[in-house]
Amino acid sequence: MNTTAKLELDGNTYELPVVIGSENEKAVDISKLRDQTGCITLDEGCGNTGSCRSSITFIDGDRGILRYRGIPIEELAERSTFVEVAYLLIMGKLPTETELRQFSQLLTKNEMIHEDLKYHFEGFPPNAHPMAILSSMINATSCFYPELLKSEPTEPFVIQVARLLSQVRTIAAFAYRKSRGLPIIYPKPHYRYTANFLHMMFSEPYQDFELEPAAINALELIFLLHADHEQNCSTSTVRMVASSRANLFASVASGVCALWGPLHGGANQAVIEMLEQIHREGDDGSKFIAAAKDKKSGKRLMGFGHRVYKNYDPRAKIIKRRCDEVLDRLDIEDPLLEIAKHLEEVALKDSYFIERKLYPNVDFYSGIIMRAIGIPVEMFPVIFAIGRTPGWIANFREVREGEGGRIYRPRQIYTGETLRPYVPLKERR
Ligand code: CMC
Repeated sequence: MNTTAKLELDGNTYELPVVIGSENEKAVDISKLRDQTGCITLDEGCGNTGSCRSSITFIDGDRGILRYRGIPIEELAERSTFVEVAYLLIMGKLPTETELRQFSQLLTKNEMIHEDLKYHFEGFPPNAHPMAILSSMINATSCFYPELLKSEPTEPFVIQVARLLSQVRTIAAFAYRKSRGLPIIYPKPHYRYTANFLHMMFSEPYQDFELEPAAINALELIFLLHADHEQNCSTSTVRMVASSRANLFASVASGVCALWGPLHGGANQAVIEMLEQIHREGDDGSKFIAAAKDKKSGKRLMGFGHRVYKNYDPRAKIIKRRCDEVLDRLDIEDPLLEIAKHLEEVALKDSYFIERKLYPNVDFYSGIIMRAIGIPVEMFPVIFAIGRTPGWIANFREVREGEGGRIYRPRQIYTGETLRPYVPLKERR
């Protein structure tokens, strides 16, 4: 394999180094291109741009492969837990028994938000979207830890990790309670991560919620499958903010904002709304598919397509398999599952979707499981955010501890007006 690429420009030849990753992924290193040639590269949407070197997550989108720190997602889904996966992503290795116990204890110790933060929830209108509350409250949390604002924090990073990872779940549950006008439920130290979240969401002050193992396991799986996904929109946002030396909480709060959009983490909510609309209108999905193929309709088949996967998203495969099982265990019949399966079947035989390699992504079936657990639809992106927090933290760490640590600062090709004079107000037409 050549270790350099040649570029011919204006009669000159330039040699550019080729970088090869541990899975044989190749990139042409253009970091000196502007100095050498005066040109930059243009790649709108960054579909061909490697923004960093990372050792956290590997995706082969053509073959439908996803691995965290080298371990296949299928194995982790089968044998691991969300907290263990969080440790793996952030610390770079599977924990020993003692490390896992200590990490879990640290999460428990840090599960409560500062009592004064509770009053911040009062400032939001009753129907505020929980993603707005989540991002604001994560950012506000940093105000209670002045250590974070020091340029060289002396506190061990793992303490910051434990606070954020544990409290993101507490804030999320409180945001839901607030949006329903319900009293806040405090976490219980003897519950594990996911059970504690369901307890804070659904218990009442006078009665504990009955924790159903099938529901806990299903939500745990959803958290785990969302834990990282290399340089997606929200993770790139976190890395960009982190590169300016903003603190961990500010960086992750910006990730929540980026995740909120319907083309990213908001897609799980959009999928259920789409399936509900199809159900309401008594359509078998054909009308919606026709609209999704028509660019003028402004509609897309939500939960389908992916920038990187040109094959079945491995996370969607796992969730789809788990859907029937969870609904069965919880004794729920959901007509939306049948509609989703039918949509998938029709789309996968349709030349529009075949030619563009559009397959179900992680969001296509996850909402059906969340509905079965009783999670309201506006909380779906919040669940995605809780799940993605370990990945954001791991990426934050990589930026801050990595070599070089240059601030992210892309360039642009300017397409606006050329030089022109200022026209005084009275002379303008
Ligand atoms: N329905 C209909 N057409 C689609 C869809 C879809 N869901 N997705 C892509 N296309 C078409 C698109 O119109 C374009 O067609 P053409 O080549 O004729 O112009 C072609 O497929 C390529 O699409 P693109 O917009 O260039 O692809 P992208 O890589 O920029 O976008 C995506 C990826 C995920 C934003 C997009 O597929 C989409 O909008 N999907 C629906 C939203 C969704 O499910 N998002 C969740 C993503 S997975 C979870 C996460 O990481 O956030």
